[in-house]
Amino acid sequence: MPDSRVTASVNICVIGSGYVGLVAAVCFAEMGHLVVCVDNNEDKVAQLQRGETPIYEAQLPELLARHRNKGVTFTTDLAAGIHPAEAVFIAVGTPQGNSGAADLSYVEAVVSQIAQVMNGYKVLVEKSTVPVYTNEWITRCMHRHGVAPEQFDVVSNPEFLREGTAVGDFLHPDRIVVGANNERSADLLRRIYAPLTEGRYYEQADALPGPCSAAEPAKLVVTSAQSAEIIKHASNAFLAMKISFINAVANLAESVDADIEDIALGMGLDARVGPRFLRAGLGYGGSCFPKDVAAFSWVAEQQGVDFRLLSEVRKINERQLDLFFEKIHSALWTLRGKKIAALGLAFKADTDDIRDSPAIALIRRLLDAGVKVTAYDPAAMAVAQRALPASESMMYAADPYAAAEDADALVILTEWKEFASLDLHRLNRALKFPILIDGRNLYSPTVMRDNGFTYVSVGRPAVYASTQGRPRRNPAE
Ligand SMILES: NC(=O)c1ccc[n+]([C@@H]2O[C@H](COP(=O)([O-])OP(=O)(O)OC[C@H]3O[C@@H](n4cnc5c(N)ncnc54)[C@H](O)[C@@H]3O)[C@@H](O)[C@H]2O)c1
Repeated sequence: MPDSRVTASVNICVIGSGYVGLVAAVCFAEMGHLVVCVDNNEDKVAQLQRGETPIYEAQLPELLARHRNKGVTFTTDLAAGIHPAEAVFIAVGTPQGNSGAADLSYVEAVVSQIAQVMNGYKVLVEKSTVPVYTNEWITRCMHRHGVAPEQFDVVSNPEFLREGTAVGDFLHPDRIVVGANNERSADLLRRIYAPLTEGRYYEQADALPGPCSAAEPAKLVVTSAQSAEIIKHASNAFLAMKISFINAVANLAESVDADIEDIALGMGLDARVGPRFLRAGLGYGGSCFPKDVAAFSWVAEQQGVDFRLLSEVRKINERQLDLFFEKIHSALWTLRGKKIAALGLAFKADTDDIRDSPAIALIRRLLDAGVKVTAYDPAAMAVAQRALPASESMMYAADPYAAAEDADALVILTEWKEFASLDLHRLNRALKFPILIDGRNLYSPTVMRDNGFTYVSVGRPAVYASTQGRPRRNPAE
C-alpha cells in the first residue's frame, strides 16, 4: 500500500490552533506533511503539547495522539514555525466588526509578524474566512514591511469544514478551492493536497473512512484569489439563506395548520433543492454564518451592489428567536418566577462551541424575563458557564431528567441526538407540567400528545394534552 505520509512531504506552518487551525494542522500531518502549529495563547499551546484537545471535536483526540511530536508540533514561537515552512496557513479569527465588516486585525497582526521573520520564498495561505481583496491587502502589508515581491505569494484556500464533523470534512472534502494568481503558488497547494486529490491517502490501511476513495478522490478547483474569497462568503450566505427560507415557510405553514416537516421533505426530494439545511427551527448561529452574512453584505455595499436579500436573511433569522420566545411565553402564560429546563447550549449538535449560539441568546432572554433556568448540554456546559455563570436563576444539571425536575416546561434548543430519544414517560413524571417547546422539531406532535405532553414546535400545529388524570408525581422517583 502506498503511504502518503512518507512521500512528498511539505513543511507547513499553521498559525492559529482553533477549530480550523488545529483540525487543519492535525489533518495535514495525517496526510504526511510536517506541521508546526503556532498560537499566541500560551495555555492552549501548553494543553496541546501535553496531548490534550482544547475543543470538543470527534476524531480529533485520536489523530492528535497519532501525530503529536511526530508530524505535528505546537509552539508559541512564530519564527520557529515560519523558518522551515514552504506554506504558511493563516487560521486566526475574523470576527464581526462594528460596521458588519470582518475585523481583520488578527490577520494583519499575523502578517506583520510573518514579515519580520521571513527567511526565503513562502506561500502565505488565507485559511481564515476573509472578504474579497484580502489577498491584495496581505501583499501590500508584506511590501510595507519591506518583504520583496519575489519572496512570497498569497493564496486563498477557504475552509468548508463543519464543527462536529470537522476532521472527516477536512480529509473527505466536497471540494478544495485554491485561489491563486500564479502557477508557482497553485502548484504548491496542489502538492499539499495531492494525497487527497490523487487518492493515495484513501488507500492507506488506517485512513479515516468517508465518502472519498482512491477511485473517487477529492476534487481541487483552482480559481483566482478574488473568486476563492467570494466562493467562501457566497457559500455560507447561500446556506444561511436556505435556513431562513425554510423558517419563513415554517411561519407560513404554522398559520395555515400545515406541517413544515412534510413540506421540507417534499421540497428536499427535488434534487435541485436538496434536503440539507432545510430544517426549520430556532435559526442559524455559530461563529460563521451570522458574521459571514454580515461581512458579505458589507462587501456588496462597498462595491455598490444591491444585495438586500442578505439583510432579509439576517432579519428572518433574528425574528425566529423572537417568535420562539413568544411561543414559550404564550405556552406558560406568564414568565416571571417560572422554572424552565433548557436542553442545549451549543450552537449546534456535536460541538462545544457556543459562539453566537441561539440557545445562549434565548436563555439570556428568559433570565431577563425573570425565569429560573436549569440547563443541560452534553459537551458545552463548561464553556457555557463562562458566558452564563451559575447562580440562583441559572443552574446546570447533570442530565436532561435532572434539568426537567419540577420545571414548568422544557425547551429544546440544540439538536443533539440524545435529545431526540428521551424517555418520555420519565420526562413527563419529572416535569411539574408536561409542556415541551421544541426549537429543533425533534419529536412527532402525535407521539408527544399520546405521551401526555403539550407540545409546541416550529412550523407545525401545537398539540395540547389535558393534565387531568395525570398520575401524581412520586417525589422519591
Ligand atoms: N469554526 C468554523 O467552523 C470555521 C469553518 C470555516 C472557516 N472558519 C474561519 O476560520 C477562521 C478561524 O476560525 P476558528 O473557529 O478556528 O477560530 P478560533 O477562535 O477557534 O481560533 C483562532 C485561533 O487563533 C489564535 N490567534 C489569534 N491571533 C493570533 C496570533 N497573532 N498568533 C497566533 N495565534 C493567534 C487564537 O488564540 C485562536 O486559538 C475564521 O476566519 C473563521 O471564519 C471557521
